[in-house]
Amino acid sequence: MWSALAKRYERISMTLPSDLLNQLDEVSKSIGYKKRSKAIRDSINAFISDYKSLRGEKGKRAGTITFIYEHEMPKISDLLTDVQHEFSKLIDASLHIHLNEARCLEVLAVRGEFQDIRKLAETLMSLKGVETLKATLI
Ligand code: NI
Repeated sequence: MWSALAKRYERISMTLPSDLLNQLDEVSKSIGYKKRSKAIRDSINAFISDYKSLRGEKGKRAGTITFIYEHEMPKISDLLTDVQHEFSKLIDASLHIHLNEARCLEVLAVRGEFQDIRKLAETLMSLKGVETLKATLI
């Protein structure tokens, strides 16, 4: 009856930017992973776990939302400004760092209801051009 407990797998095909795949392979190699698919599975698990950490809790929280974005993505700067104005009651301060020619890092100091902060984080994550987002709330 092993088959009843065995995980089911599905094969997917995807297209990724070469530099992203190169970075994944570099990190995998330095950790000692032998298979690329494990690195991709672990990345997906980290993505899901990050998102789940933003769910379900009520009450007032304070913390930071940190994200990296491609500043040359069309309209991204305007969209980020619009979102931050829309959620201005939650954002106490922001810090912008021009990482290199293509990327910017932004840190928002946030304070407010957990559900509202989550909504802000989700709105930022959904923008095309935002690559990585981490919320740390205490
Ligand atoms: Ni910048």
